[in-house]
Amino acid sequence: MTKKIKRIGVFTSGGDAPGMNAAVRAVVRTGIYNKLSVFGISHGYEGMIANEIKKLGKPDVANIIHRGGTVLKTSRSEDFRTKAGRKKAYKNLQKHKIQALVAIGGNGTYTGAKVFSEEYDIPIIGVPGTIDNDIYGTDFTIGFDTAINTAIEAIDRIRDTADSHNRLFFIEVMGRHAGFIALNTGIGSGAAYTLSTEVKTDIKEIVSFLEDSKTRNKLFNLIIVAEGNKSGNANSIARKIKKMNPNLDSRVLILGHLQRGGSPSASDRVLASRFGYAAVETLISGAKNKAVGLINNQIVLTEFEQAIKESKAIQDDLINMAKILAM
Ligand code: F6P
Repeated sequence: MTKKIKRIGVFTSGGDAPGMNAAVRAVVRTGIYNKLSVFGISHGYEGMIANEIKKLGKPDVANIIHRGGTVLKTSRSEDFRTKAGRKKAYKNLQKHKIQALVAIGGNGTYTGAKVFSEEYDIPIIGVPGTIDNDIYGTDFTIGFDTAINTAIEAIDRIRDTADSHNRLFFIEVMGRHAGFIALNTGIGSGAAYTLSTEVKTDIKEIVSFLEDSKTRNKLFNLIIVAEGNKSGNANSIARKIKKMNPNLDSRVLILGHLQRGGSPSASDRVLASRFGYAAVETLISGAKNKAVGLINNQIVLTEFEQAIKESKAIQDDLINMAKILAM
């Protein structure tokens, strides 16, 4: 029979995402409600190795639901990839008698969690937190909604100046492995084109679209480029296009880490609260090595193994729709 869980740890790892604090708050409060001791581990796996572990009470998570970033801090740990690093981390968990963990992060976080839980038989539940929305087993990840809203707000401003000067703009958004941010930002900002990571970029097609756009009385254009676009980033696409037609002068804007900051949207706060709550309930139920997710507005669980291996498909119907609406 498995021992009843009394002490759990929570940490955030990988790139920060708006809403992570709401998830931490939910984990701590659900834990306390269920009479568990909850420990916050700072700086993700790095802090586990360095013993940056502290018991959290209700006041520690007060007044954080609206804050961007992560109060627990985060990191991408190289040491945790080594057996020696994980051994140190486990010893530190033992010092605090921590029996189970909630890991908030993306694919790299889940990969570390899977290896660690198998090595030391420690139950871990994953919570999908990344602005990229590229995690299998959930329709949405924490931070995605805020990130696309932030991007769209910035692009609305660019639209004003692009309109005033009849200019072409290339706007690069985050997403090194997946184009969810690009596609949704493209649709929401009314972009002329979206160059995501999943679809092949046809430079010739873009050039003729742009050449033709004046005849259609479209005097300015916004083109969204995913960071991970296979044919190049925004600067390189802009250069290629200008090389094919020197009249197609443009400006380039890289939104970068701006998209990761800021107060979480209402959707992200609710999503993160649901995930944090579900993660603790799942640990208490005796389940382990799974990630929580939301599919069709219902909480679901996916084995780490599957969440890591499978990639979430981009919606082809949205890609087609984006093209049609941009005519
Ligand atoms: O967290 C995901 C992400 O923002 C990606 O979209 C981006 O490619 C990457 O992180 C950037 O990572 P870093 O913060 O290490 O520069």
